[in-house]
Amino acid sequence: MIVAIDGPAGSGKGTIASVLSKKLNLVNIDTGATYRCVALKALRNNLNIEDKEKIIELSNNIDIKFDLNNNVYLDGEDVTKEIRSKEVTNIVSPISSIVEVRKNMVDLQRRLGNSNNVVMEGRDITTVVFPNADYKFYLDATLEERAKRRFKEYQEKQIDMSYDEIYENIKNRDYNDSHKEVGSLMRTDDQHYIDSTNLTIDEVTNEFIKIIEGDKNES
Ligand code: DC
Repeated sequence: MIVAIDGPAGSGKGTIASVLSKKLNLVNIDTGATYRCVALKALRNNLNIEDKEKIIELSNNIDIKFDLNNNVYLDGEDVTKEIRSKEVTNIVSPISSIVEVRKNMVDLQRRLGNSNNVVMEGRDITTVVFPNADYKFYLDATLEERAKRRFKEYQEKQIDMSYDEIYENIKNRDYNDSHKEVGSLMRTDDQHYIDSTNLTIDEVTNEFIKIIEGDKNES
């Protein structure tokens, strides 16, 4: 079974995917983390966004793994926290716009999805990675609400970014993520659209479960 969730940064995809994975016994794949690993490896190699060829080469030879607790491993090293840093967050969107990098990450994501029952979240899961997923969702919220949530999360994780920095970063990423040559974030008629702006985590989870269980009961 594949549950695919797309939506902009801070819409709650990560939180909901984690809750659903436990409730429905699915492996949770955060595809944004794969692009974050490429960004981190690029930074560690002192590359910048202009070094496209080198970034592509690096993405051809990268080992990214997830464990069942949502930890992320880059070339064998646990980088779960480091991939959320300000430095990575600031360059990940342009890195994820490089078509060849996307091709490599999509191949990896498909391999992960084909060997497990998964909930997979990102920007192009319902449209490119698994357009035939069993359940397709678009999770949304206003920019202000998403920046507020991300700020709270970063404070809890002691990641040093102000509300204004986060707001601007998300606004820029929203634009970049929905204007890509390949794999843009987009809404389609066959996604279930959920706006989480005024909903609690439990309420959003219930919306998802209602749709998944409802579909099961019908078939
Ligand atoms: O979900 P996130 O904020 O961790 O994602 C980081 C970046 O990766 C985001 O700005 C867009 C990109 N991304 C993507 O292009 N396609 C995906 N399937 C997931 C993330």
